[in-house]
Amino acid sequence: MTYKMLGILLIGFYFLPACTENEEEIAKRAGAELYQANCAACHSGSISEAPKLVSLKLLSKEAIVATLRTGVMRNQADRLSKEQHEQLAAFISASDETEIRNDVVAGKCAEESSIETADVTPIISNWGMGLQNKRYYDGDDLQITAENVPQLKLSWTFAFPNATRARAQPTIVGNTLYTASQHGTIYALDRKTGCIRWTFQADAEVRSALVVGTNENGAASRLYFSDFAATVYALDLKTTELLWKRKVEDHHMATITGTLNIFENRLYVPVSSLEIISAFDENYECCTFRGSMVSLNADTGEQIWKTYTIAEEAKPNGKTSVGTTRFGPSGAPIWTTPTIDTKRRVLYFGTGENYTRPVSKTSDAIMAMNLEDGKIVWTQQMYADDAWNGACVYPPYGPNCPEYHGPDADFGAPPILITSGEKDILLVGQKSGDVYALDPDNKGEIIWHELVGRGAIMGGVHWGMASDGKTLYVPINDQNDYTLHKEQPIQPGVHALNIVDGKRIWSTIEENRCGESEWECGPGISAAITATPAVLFAGALDGMLKAYDTKTGKELWSYDTDRDYDAVNGAKAFGGTIDSDGPVVVGNQLFITSGYAKFGEQPGNVLLAFELP
Ligand code: HEC
Repeated sequence: MTYKMLGILLIGFYFLPACTENEEEIAKRAGAELYQANCAACHSGSISEAPKLVSLKLLSKEAIVATLRTGVMRNQADRLSKEQHEQLAAFISASDETEIRNDVVAGKCAEESSIETADVTPIISNWGMGLQNKRYYDGDDLQITAENVPQLKLSWTFAFPNATRARAQPTIVGNTLYTASQHGTIYALDRKTGCIRWTFQADAEVRSALVVGTNENGAASRLYFSDFAATVYALDLKTTELLWKRKVEDHHMATITGTLNIFENRLYVPVSSLEIISAFDENYECCTFRGSMVSLNADTGEQIWKTYTIAEEAKPNGKTSVGTTRFGPSGAPIWTTPTIDTKRRVLYFGTGENYTRPVSKTSDAIMAMNLEDGKIVWTQQMYADDAWNGACVYPPYGPNCPEYHGPDADFGAPPILITSGEKDILLVGQKSGDVYALDPDNKGEIIWHELVGRGAIMGGVHWGMASDGKTLYVPINDQNDYTLHKEQPIQPGVHALNIVDGKRIWSTIEENRCGESEWECGPGISAAITATPAVLFAGALDGMLKAYDTKTGKELWSYDTDRDYDAVNGAKAFGGTIDSDGPVVVGNQLFITSGYAKFGEQPGNVLLAFELP
């Protein structure tokens, strides 16, 4: 029996009549009522971002209480007492684990295992595998080819204890792999065996990749990362000590999802928010968050500049049908890691939709900001008039949904900067399935446009495309109904376009392999993908990881990550949906995370390492 099935059985359990009336059962019963009244509207149905109750059940009581008091649900639970938080946790949790976090009990490296990080040049030091976000790896150490890729074998599995998502893409320095968990634990793992060298505890979930800072010799010296509560951290790699930490945004729903980037000793931090979820509550005064890019001094964490995507602060703006005050303009969060153009000394990123009206010209846009002072150099809006929030998911729309709402055509994938051709271009892919080449010398003017997928709230293009400088590889999810491009066929899979004119070179459309599934399942690719010269790696919502021939799109190898594992650190290990972060390839190894309890997708908690023999 899988852990997932156990979860389902246990739900059934709670509705059986209680035989003995002990404190635990009284708490569970009170919790069940509280759940129906305060939580079920989102978690047992109508908001796609919310993990299903079966997923919540995999969390420990401590993890649930922490989520309600200081985590993502603090807004939803602040009307409830501490005792009620405990009652909810008693009802929801079906996990027998007691620790929220990993007090490392098993899987530690032997004392003598050398920490090869100091004086070593980082191999994969950020999310986009370079400042241009090409997600392309052709390092000298690369051994994986189209011929030998079928020989890849699972070499070790690491389980994030008590987690239902695994989404911090690995970062590689020498023989060490850095990653992070849903409960905010930073792990330094031996990349050959998966044993734990050291851990560090952040205050909240870390969803993005860790970024390596280097010293004057180009050797790895620091680790930078951000947590769910919009705080950025700097660690010394040698001592593993905290050098500084800084909160970059005070809005109560602010978060950091896109990985920060570093250039010339400055950090660039993209700020997004979960206020679209709060909007589901008709009493919530929606909305006041504005996206921003923040530049910090990498030595001290001091802010150098901060530029909002929307210049003015949100103001009261009428009442909803139930008398709640509306606020606007709001939104235009930044979900993407910034792309750094060292020649023009600007950075580029994509923005999300407006949450409310009035709309701004900077939503669903590609923006260029000056590295020095954060001044906006240009904005190219790719979809105008897109006011959308969590009250607009399914009809009948909630009172906080704007009267005319847009399609939610965010950018989740960063722009790719290509500087190897005759002319520099920016390649961008949108959740609507639209893909563009933009001119960085001409205010982002459109050079070509190609509609690659039908688009969906989870993409179209969701988290990241890849390019070798000649071909653009576009992952398409096309999972659910979407108001834009309704007439188009769905095209889940991978597509290769010529970057000169956008013409298709090949398209590999994947068939549904899910059968009857209780999860949001499909063959679509929402997670970022990664290219090497000969092989392209991509993971799908149904947990299938595939290798494709970059020349033809032919499938070369596949591995179904949706299964249970024996993890090196002894914790329960199970795979599920692959979403958000993408594969990492180095030497003769391939790394991928599996499990993503969000949007009704299948939970899981593993980092998988494959290796050529
Ligand atoms: C307005 C809709 C909404 C309501 C009401 C709501 N939630 Fe949530 N909840 C969400 C969404 C959306 C997420 C996912 C947030 C994210 O991770 O981005 C979430 C996440 C969570 C998580 C974290 C899951 C994880 O995998 O880390 C827990 C636990 C949770 N909710 C419990 C509750 C409880 C208990 C209640 C009732 C008091 C509640 N929620 C009410 C929408 C809601």
